[in-house]
Amino acid sequence: MPFITFEGADGSGKTTHIQQLATFFGQQGRPVLVTREPGGTKLGNEIRAMVLGDNERNVSPMAEMLLIAAARAQHVSEVLQPGLAEGKLILCDRYIDSSLVYQGVALGVGLDLVANINNMVVDGLWPDLTILLDVPPEVAYERSILMRRQADRIESRGLAYYRQVCAGYRLIAQKWPERIKVVDANRPVATVHRDIRRVVSSIL
Ligand SMILES: Nc1ncnc2c1ncn2[C@@H]1O[C@H](COP(=O)(O)OP(=O)(O)OP(=O)(O)O)[C@@H](O)[C@H]1O
Ligand SMILES: [Mg+2]
Repeated sequence: MPFITFEGADGSGKTTHIQQLATFFGQQGRPVLVTREPGGTKLGNEIRAMVLGDNERNVSPMAEMLLIAAARAQHVSEVLQPGLAEGKLILCDRYIDSSLVYQGVALGVGLDLVANINNMVVDGLWPDLTILLDVPPEVAYERSILMRRQADRIESRGLAYYRQVCAGYRLIAQKWPERIKVVDANRPVATVHRDIRRVVSSIL
């Protein structure tokens, strides 16, 4: 069964569309596993709290990248590999590409370094398909602000940061065009959902 990841800036609609797709496949009787990074495991949730939680730790970009990679290693062995072995269709909210964009590009750790480390970390488990929900940074920023009472540490970096993130995603979509499919997410949810279903069905 395929392993599909969803990427895009905060507020691009990843959670919305994963839920809709899971509902759709559930109605078809297809076994689906929905999971997310960082998190998805107990260790991952603890790391998520360390990285996103508060400003007191002042986590350096390299430390942030390595902590998230550690959470990913745990997620691969504890959730993703067993799920695939059970024949489930996996829908994962963020994965390697988030590290490439957030730590590699936006925080300046470097794309090649992050790609190399993650390649080792995931034990060969690259996604079969990655849906990149593409929205202008202003739209992502506004949707996130509307959604939350309090921005987490990464989101509080502001609109300039969203611009870097959106540009970073476009960069990696050009680098891996076979795996990463860009969907224009600046349209009504139902329209975006229809396009996502079309892309996903092409690999099922
Ligand atoms: N196509 C759309 N048009 C209008 N609003 C949308 C659209 N897609 C999602 N939204 C709304 O934008 C907000 C953010 O969506 P969602 O939580 O799915 O994004 P996300 O990518 O999961 O964000 P995060 O990375 O912060 O978890 C929600 O309030 C959602 O209802
Ligand atoms: Mg979400």
